Amino acid sequence: MGTFVLNDMESSAENVQHDSGFAWRNGVLHAEGVSLPAIAAAYGTPAYVYSAGTVRERFRRLSDAFADVPHHIHFAVKANSNLSVLTLLRELGAGVDIVSGGELQRALTAGFSGDDVVFSGVGKTVGEIEAALEAGVRLINVESEAELLVIEAVAARRQVVAPIAVRVNPEVTVETPHAYIKTGEKGQKFGIPRDDVSRLLDVISDLPHVELRGLGMHLGSQIGNADPLRDALPRLLAAIEVARASGHPVQFMDVGGGLSVPYEPGDVAADIADYATVVRAAARETGLTLLLEPGRYLVAESGVLLTEVLYRKHAAGKDFVVTDAGMSDLIRPALYQAYHGIAAVREVQGAITADVVGPICESGDFFAKNRVLPDVSAGDLLVLQTAGAYAFTMASNYNSRPRPVEVLVDGDRFAVVGARETFDDLVRRERTPLEWRTA
Ligand code: LLP
Repeated sequence: MGTFVLNDMESSAENVQHDSGFAWRNGVLHAEGVSLPAIAAAYGTPAYVYSAGTVRERFRRLSDAFADVPHHIHFAVKANSNLSVLTLLRELGAGVDIVSGGELQRALTAGFSGDDVVFSGVGKTVGEIEAALEAGVRLINVESEAELLVIEAVAARRQVVAPIAVRVNPEVTVETPHAYIKTGEKGQKFGIPRDDVSRLLDVISDLPHVELRGLGMHLGSQIGNADPLRDALPRLLAAIEVARASGHPVQFMDVGGGLSVPYEPGDVAADIADYATVVRAAARETGLTLLLEPGRYLVAESGVLLTEVLYRKHAAGKDFVVTDAGMSDLIRPALYQAYHGIAAVREVQGAITADVVGPICESGDFFAKNRVLPDVSAGDLLVLQTAGAYAFTMASNYNSRPRPVEVLVDGDRFAVVGARETFDDLVRRERTPLEWRTA
């Protein structure tokens, strides 16, 4: 993204979003060609702001790394399910990885076809499986024998053959910043334990309405190096070997998502070249089409949460910066003790050490503790960085707070791609007067 070069503001603000569409120009933070104060003035705060150019750049970087093997990138919709972001990724040539009927509907609404879709998740309902078959998804990833039997029954009823993949739990050690984002370790709810795969493959052979087209895995999220993959891929390849030997028409090998992005100063970006080298070698060995399910890598660094400082507060010897965004808008710090860089949108002289907190009535409603920050005042704008993934999608209405507006920037243009919720949106489902019934 050579056009978005950071100027000397970089040193005066904590900035971890170096290699993205966000940069300071003349002391003001811009998303590509648009100043963030202009967006705040147009649509208010809190606001999610996404850079289209960053999404494009990340997609190209990843797809270039796999250019010489047959592959398909299925964006994990849970990371950012905004229809305009999905459309942008579709136009780049991505497919999607979905985990619910709602995500399926979003994908179809954004113009994806069934064949662009792989359907993951441990708890698919009959209704969701029906919708997936109706849409003609590429693969339904099977996560248990019980689920397999339900897929068989639904497909039999519809008189179709369901294309399935087995999600293998390779049971390797996975290092992630938080235990909640590991999946490929022993004892997790995800996937079929590797020792149980052969037996499941035999069950599949006996079922007339499912066809095993792929095997896959997903080790976890925010994985910083290829080591867990180095351990896990031989186990996936072994399972593929067994499946082929018993005559299953396997076409796809799915290595899931999980590529890390830098959040904190000092974090290093995922080594895509190393990751690709390891994965490409395995894919070549099988001759199968490789499926990738990245979420965070494609979108995290494309977004910020723009928020206004409501108050400065000094209490019990501490400084607090109270923002108009809270944990209902960005829950990652509260839920995973996750770090998000915080920077002032306009240059501010001086520094403070403060807790940055939201307005919500929970002690867990903080974005940072004891963080060194620019000495901001009420009315100043801040950004919470690296907020394009698992940010808006995890937002809630807790404390009856409408979810923020979402704005997409593309070059020097910007548009609302998700309207700020209104009070009417919040109460729409709560009908009055009540229509009482008896059973
Ligand atoms: N495929 C499957 C089956 C997954 O479960 C996930 C993420 C992905 C792909 C995409 O993983 P990624 O490339 O984004 O790491 N809310 C947490 C992250 C949860 C990830 C869940 N699964 C967070 O905010 O860190």
